[in-house]
Amino acid sequence: MRMNGRYGDLAGRRVVITGAGRGLGRILASAFDENGARLGLVARSAGALQDVADGLSGEALVLPGDVRDAEFNEAVAKAMVDRFGGVDVWICNAAVSPEVSPVVEMEPESWRQIVDVNLTGAFLGARAGAAVMGTGGRIIVTGSVLGSRPRAGLSAYAASKSGIEALVKALAQEVGPRAITANAVALGWFDTGLGAHWHRDAELEGDIVRHTALGRWGHSGDLAGAFLFLASEASAYVTGTTLTVDGGYSLM
Ligand SMILES: NC(=O)c1ccc[n+]([C@@H]2O[C@H](COP(=O)([O-])OP(=O)(O)OC[C@H]3O[C@@H](n4cnc5c(N)ncnc54)[C@H](OP(=O)(O)O)[C@@H]3O)[C@@H](O)[C@H]2O)c1
Repeated sequence: MRMNGRYGDLAGRRVVITGAGRGLGRILASAFDENGARLGLVARSAGALQDVADGLSGEALVLPGDVRDAEFNEAVAKAMVDRFGGVDVWICNAAVSPEVSPVVEMEPESWRQIVDVNLTGAFLGARAGAAVMGTGGRIIVTGSVLGSRPRAGLSAYAASKSGIEALVKALAQEVGPRAITANAVALGWFDTGLGAHWHRDAELEGDIVRHTALGRWGHSGDLAGAFLFLASEASAYVTGTTLTVDGGYSLM
């Protein structure tokens, strides 16, 4: 997907994408690369990131590390400044959802791991990014419809995604005076990345289709438009909000 013209030009923009090693983050990396952005790719697996970088046409820094680590996030910001002179867009996209477990059976350590990566990791990325961003910067956090419509067994994941929506609302007020925006994208059910596991469950697969206005799961081509919009000039007056990309799942 390519954006053109005055409102959509992302050429040369300096964009950090966390969770860029596979799944949806990998799709985002391709979409921003296609639009001429210069990228900082973050995940724990250096090999996966290098593989993504090797498939891109433009410049991309491979920045392996853990989003739960505050110093690592600051090092990512510094690497972007050293190489590209700054950061324009920081997409906090890394997340985990390792298990389905009722609250009464969930180990506290599992809860902490999910909230640490998904919510604290987003906070630390936004914090590091906002510290070095100039006027017109963009912070985008990948959320989920489960943040507003939690499902049994996914309490930690849902709570982390709900927390993201509050995070961007508070952050938007703090960075607004510098013309920086902070928004979330609440994704519905995609058949790639974390969603691929659920997509293979025949009962759930059909259940989601029946409860989605557009009558289908999200595909890779449905993803990037919202992120490109929120990263571009077209969204300069959009902040503190959650853009839902779920085919109408939240309606039904
Ligand atoms: N796929 C869906 O249907 C769906 C639906 C709603 C929302 N989402 C959201 O979309 C985003 C991307 O999910 P996905 O489906 O693409 O998941 P995925 O395929 O599992 O990819 C997750 C990415 O995050 C990285 N990551 C995980 N833990 C990390 C950590 N501690 N530090 C740094 N990187 C870490 C992973 O790489 P390493 O393991 O190498 O670190 C990987 O690159 C997430 O925020 C997810 O909640 C997805």
